[in-house]
Amino acid sequence: MKYATLNTGATMPLEGFGVFQIPDAAECERVVYDAIRTGYRLLDTAAAYMNEEALGKAVKRAIGDGLVTREELFITTKVWVQDQKNEETAYQAVKTSLAKLDMEYVDLVLLHQALGDYFAAYRGITRAYREGLTKAVGVSNFYPFVLANFCENVDVIPAVNQIELHPFFSQEDALALMKEYGIQPQAWGPLAEGKHGIFTDPLLVGIGRKYGKSAAQVVLRWNTQRGVSILPKSTHMERMEQNIDIWDFELTEDEMKQIGEKDLGHSEIINHFDPGLVRALNGMKIHE
Ligand SMILES: NC(=O)c1ccc[n+]([C@@H]2O[C@H](COP(=O)([O-])OP(=O)(O)OC[C@H]3O[C@@H](n4cnc5c(N)ncnc54)[C@H](OP(=O)(O)O)[C@@H]3O)[C@@H](O)[C@H]2O)c1
Repeated sequence: MKYATLNTGATMPLEGFGVFQIPDAAECERVVYDAIRTGYRLLDTAAAYMNEEALGKAVKRAIGDGLVTREELFITTKVWVQDQKNEETAYQAVKTSLAKLDMEYVDLVLLHQALGDYFAAYRGITRAYREGLTKAVGVSNFYPFVLANFCENVDVIPAVNQIELHPFFSQEDALALMKEYGIQPQAWGPLAEGKHGIFTDPLLVGIGRKYGKSAAQVVLRWNTQRGVSILPKSTHMERMEQNIDIWDFELTEDEMKQIGEKDLGHSEIINHFDPGLVRALNGMKIHE
């Protein structure tokens, strides 16, 4: 495992485990416990995933069973758009997440989307950061033009920007900008959520064959080799094991370039530029 040093000075495992689309509490608890058993130390949830309680229970059980200590774990959650209304709603959302997780602090709180009054919401999570409720603050889904404007106007530069990053949407421009501001890029959907035939893609399979690795392992390795933190999600133990087994091989410069050439220049998972989606996300309620 490699680690990233955040602009707070804290270290974060470069690879973690995401729990999006595991709404069933019992399944989420099982999966998170299995992920910790497999060796994942960075766990990524969000208020909107509706599984913070289950994740918290799995962590507590893993610590109780002696698998890991809280200090060895890096736990991320996110404030949903509904709570990105003002400073107070965002600050209270962090407290609600901590109560659900049953934790005294998390390692990172992100604003989930560049929607609502995200400047005010950021002041709310920054207050939580100053009070020690979170060890770092950051953002998610902030495209370069939004991120540049944001960084020019906030006191605390985000530690992380979590965005969609995989070979079919490589966002090299976003990575370059984050480098300028000292922000750690983190990939959501590092396996493109299974789209584009990613697991059977001839180039990826061919490169993998050379190293005795799968296409999934090749794309995960590709992102980490360009300095990106990754959060592959799987409910299957054998895939969890496979996805974390990427630290014993290195892609050549030419292979990195060939994989990068798969970029389509846009997302085929979500269109943040669609006003209809903006309205839908603003209308999505996760609580009263
Ligand atoms: N900030 C945001 O807006 C945002 C958005 C999306 C995601 N995220 C975060 O990023 C994490 C990862 O993204 P994601 O869950 O959307 O997608 P992903 O990790 O790119 O892909 C997950 C899909 O790939 C399958 N899979 C995983 N490993 C595999 C392997 N080795 N071989 C074949 N299939 C495999 C999984 O199936 P099984 O589960 O059935 O194994 C699942 O269907 C999320 O869980 C979440 O924490 C954040």
